[in-house]
Amino acid sequence: MGAESAAGGKKSAAYRALNAQLTALFAGERDGLANAANLSAVLYHTLPDLNWVGFYFLRGGELVLGPFQGQVACVRIPLGRGVCGTAAQSRETLIVADVHAFPGHIACDAASRSEIVVPLIHHDRLWGVLDLDSPVAARFDADDGIGLNAIAALLLHSSDLDRLTR
Ligand code: SME
Repeated sequence: MGAESAAGGKKSAAYRALNAQLTALFAGERDGLANAANLSAVLYHTLPDLNWVGFYFLRGGELVLGPFQGQVACVRIPLGRGVCGTAAQSRETLIVADVHAFPGHIACDAASRSEIVVPLIHHDRLWGVLDLDSPVAARFDADDGIGLNAIAALLLHSSDLDRLTR
């Protein structure tokens, strides 16, 4: 096995362990605010090399800041703007190796160098995005995309998010 696929295997195993931990954490609790807040804390303190993890929820046609860990962040992001708004509009996970090279990137923490944004889609509806920033360039790869999409799906089917998107 090459170094890259060995690292990939390790990452997938770490995401599987995280998923099991989060399944237990969400068991018996459907409050979307509580579960999203705990999820941001678990990711921030478990995954290496992060400086921001959090949510933006779709409210009144724009993304509005939700629970997060990290520095103060911008509150409202229109669809189509920045990495978050672009991922939300396209409904596709966006991995940005160098945020300085992304046109329209919204800089919240000057330390951020790379970013991944996972749209929260459930039953064909866009609820918002999960956003992770890293001070390390090219921190995120396809394995992070797969692992974080599985975690986002777990949050979405474990929680009631209606109150967060009104
Ligand atoms: N960088 C994001 C904005 C949110 S912060 O990173 C927390 C963007 O360009 O959408």
